Amino acid sequence: MISSNIGKFITIEGVEGVGKTTNIDFIRQWLEQRKIPHITTREPGGTPLAESIRELLLSPRDETVDENTELLLMFAARAQHLAAVIVPALQKGQWVLCDRFTDATYAYQGGGRGVSMDKIAQLETLVQGELRPDLTLVLDIPVEQGLERAKNRSAPDRFEQEKLAFFERVRECYLSRVKAEPHRYRVVDASQSLSDVQSDLSALLERCLGQVL
Ligand code: TMP
Repeated sequence: MISSNIGKFITIEGVEGVGKTTNIDFIRQWLEQRKIPHITTREPGGTPLAESIRELLLSPRDETVDENTELLLMFAARAQHLAAVIVPALQKGQWVLCDRFTDATYAYQGGGRGVSMDKIAQLETLVQGELRPDLTLVLDIPVEQGLERAKNRSAPDRFEQEKLAFFERVRECYLSRVKAEPHRYRVVDASQSLSDVQSDLSALLERCLGQVL
């Protein structure tokens, strides 16, 4: 399913509380064991400027954030991240493991906020050209279960303050994107025990990526 030669671009997605951080660490170890040169990074963020934009986006504020402002800030951070980190790494043959990418914009700004998918697609083309992830892992969990897991973390950010229905739309959007373009995505049932999630992840990585190693 995955092309050969330059580095592979792998993104990890899911609603809050799905276990992205732990599982990204597991994938990072999987790559290390195979001596695959790689970097791990995240969105929004991944460069000093993009991390400053992340702060702007995630800080709770009294002012209502216009949906276009939010959308443009996401893509502004992404443009910087692509230019400074992702594209140079891929060109050097490194694999890039990225905690969220443009699927999150479709899911949160499109599904969650109701921004038109066409508008997002236009910005995707403007900022990314033809570049798309080689593989996107969607860690999937019923929203209530994810939010329950996430609730013991520090004070909720601007997105975490959203209501259940918002995250239901986010999850639906992820799953509908998987259906529309199944070759690029793999869904992992993140409601299982961590060891079951990780054995699913290992099997899936072997199947999807073993052929190019
Ligand atoms: P994180 O908590 O997984 O680091 O992600 C930060 C928040 O940003 C999360 O609630 C999802 C949101 N987000 C978007 O709304 N759109 C995007 O394009 C990205 C990358 C993240």
